[in-house]
Amino acid sequence: MKKWLFLCILLGGLLLILGAGQGVRAEGDPDIDPPLAPLGPVPVPPDNPITPEKIELGKLLFFDPKLSGDTSLSCASCHDPAQGWAFADSICRGYPGTVHWRNCQTVVNSGYYGKLFWQGNSKSLEAQARTAAKGGVAGNGEFDVMLERLRQTPKYREMFRRVFGDIVPQLGNAWRAIATFERGALSQRNTPLDRYLQGEKTALSPQAIKGMELFTGKANCIECHNGPLLSDEKYYNLGVPRAVEWEEEGINQITFRFENYAKGVPEEFYRTFKDDAGLYYTTKRKEDLGKFRTPSLRYIKYTAPYMHNGAFFTLEEVIDFYDQGGGENEFTDGTHGVNTKTPILKPLHLTDEEKAALVAFLEELSGEEISVGEVVVPNYAPFPDVESLTQAQAKRIGLEDFLTIRQGLFGMR
Ligand code: HEC
Ligand code: HEC
Repeated sequence: MKKWLFLCILLGGLLLILGAGQGVRAEGDPDIDPPLAPLGPVPVPPDNPITPEKIELGKLLFFDPKLSGDTSLSCASCHDPAQGWAFADSICRGYPGTVHWRNCQTVVNSGYYGKLFWQGNSKSLEAQARTAAKGGVAGNGEFDVMLERLRQTPKYREMFRRVFGDIVPQLGNAWRAIATFERGALSQRNTPLDRYLQGEKTALSPQAIKGMELFTGKANCIECHNGPLLSDEKYYNLGVPRAVEWEEEGINQITFRFENYAKGVPEEFYRTFKDDAGLYYTTKRKEDLGKFRTPSLRYIKYTAPYMHNGAFFTLEEVIDFYDQGGGENEFTDGTHGVNTKTPILKPLHLTDEEKAALVAFLEELSGEEISVGEVVVPNYAPFPDVESLTQAQAKRIGLEDFLTIRQGLFGMR
């Protein structure tokens, strides 16, 4: 009898150990993975609280081409609401005369990341907006010129004053407003996945539920796409294959070389790199070659093509790629004396039915498409002859502070 009891306890303990190990750890990534969870409120920096007026101002600025070099493209030209708040080419369009060098990311839910870009090299939405407006193959704007354009737009003078108390618009506050628009209007919480995880068992279809079980089990996506955002924000090389554009198009090679040069790679690599080195550009450590930040999969249905270079056009292609255990690129095949491919990816042996279930899960968790309707950006107006205005006239066009300053400075009446 005693022997029997002992055996039972031993068996129970063994099962417990085995059970705990399942789906929680994988080779090469010995951490515990947070489970899928409903998305909470978007984090807000203490010095840039969200208000409805600030969201409205940020929306106008997001759609306003005044924040670029030649006033021909706005944030929304590349982050187009009709293209998943992203851009549907493999490699994003660029400033006129250039192409970008990476696939355009959606700005939906970008407020939840601790580090932005495929390379994770921007730390806040405010800093990111500034970089985007200025970057040579993005906005290519000159700060003083963009600032002057805002100052010569009566509606902005009025809105910046109301929202920030600016006597005349300040560029730093333009970035704050844009970041607030992204946090306040482009965070998506109430998706079928969120509702399912909160207990509404019919929010996902039976096929998608099966997909979720695969996602967190056999297919092991949860190893990296985990937690409420479906991203661990760590860096991996999956062996995403090379972008054909970089082999075939001169204009793409120009941007690629320029970025390599601007990011300060050694001469040897400047001449020989053919793939995007990702995190390496930040750290300059060989073990980081070709690694990219795990992206969120929320809103994924609307943001094809996929991966940092848009290598895949459909979710089916993405699943096939993972099913094969990832791929090869010049940072996995020994070209540079390293193989940085993550050991986590292994052939999955998924059936066609399982693949379809995974796709159904990814599509359903994407929720509704976010639209903000038509946005009409405000026009310039010639700078009025302030001195000849009455206080009431100046106030109507948002210039009475200017009048006060002039009076203060020069003693004018
Ligand atoms: C010429 C096209 C272009 C323009 C204009 C542009 N972007 Fe982007 N944006 C991109 C591309 C491409 C990426 C990915 C770049 C990378 O990872 O290196 C990106 C990435 C981002 C990200 C990071 C998302 C994430 O998941 O990490 C945010 C946020 C963003 N852009 C916001 C903006 C804002 C705000 C503006 C306007 C001030 C803007 N962008 C203008 C093309 C553009
Ligand atoms: C080892 C970590 C890891 C695992 C496991 C993993 N992913 Fe990913 N996933 C990433 C990274 C990193 C990227 C970006 C890679 C790049 O662009 O080079 C990515 C990209 C994606 C994308 C494209 C996102 C976009 O915005 O373009 C999809 C879709 C995706 N993964 C789905 C899945 C699914 C489904 C699974 C399970 C079958 C899975 N992932 C398993 C790390 C992982």
